[in-house]
Amino acid sequence: MAEKVTFKVFRFNPEKDKKPYYQDFEVEIRKPGMMVLDGLNQIRWEMDGTLAFRRSCREGVCGSDGLNINGVNMLSCITHISDLKPPIVIQPLPSLPVVKDLVVDLTDFMNKFFLVKPYLITYSPPPDKERLQTPEERKKLDGLYECILCACCSTSCPSYWADPEYLGPSALLNSARFILDSRDEGADERFEIINDRHGVWRCHTILNCIEACPKLLNPTEAIGELKKILIKKKF
Ligand code: FES
Repeated sequence: MAEKVTFKVFRFNPEKDKKPYYQDFEVEIRKPGMMVLDGLNQIRWEMDGTLAFRRSCREGVCGSDGLNINGVNMLSCITHISDLKPPIVIQPLPSLPVVKDLVVDLTDFMNKFFLVKPYLITYSPPPDKERLQTPEERKKLDGLYECILCACCSTSCPSYWADPEYLGPSALLNSARFILDSRDEGADERFEIINDRHGVWRCHTILNCIEACPKLLNPTEAIGELKKILIKKKF
């Protein structure tokens, strides 16, 4: 008989439930290295087809399956069941409105991302071929461009929970990705948006975002760089 692990899953269907509840499922461990996403698929395909959760690439690239698993935000597709203490408690990402079960509404999170203008802004005439960078200039973007917008960092941040207007670690990291890009000419426009009590100054270096990021990025450090630039500009 295959070993079984209990998944305690957050359930809420706003169309029929008065309040959320937890439902237990016994997930069979059928192969070594099974991920939490494999367990959720087993539940949906074999036990309860109404369970709602997002997933796509199943290899840590698309960022669609950020969940709170045993109290920590992570991607279900790259989280080994064997690394977790049972029962495995699976909840939606904290602080975002629940659409159904484990699916949250990411509208506010994405709006904040677009607010920081996450694209290259240029005003100088384009060169004949392309806007070049030295290897050193390109290297400055390492640790900034890899964000997959899973929302694990922002929704792990108590400042983000407390201040609905706070841009959050993900949007701020993405603003740094373009502000620090040697080809970009839109830094001042972005500083107007992030130099605010709901911008970089709301970060109190709590560091939860670093622990939550599945790509091992460091939003706190990126926000610190932005604060340093702003202080230098002031004086
Ligand atoms: Fe794409 Fe997990 S399913 S990151």
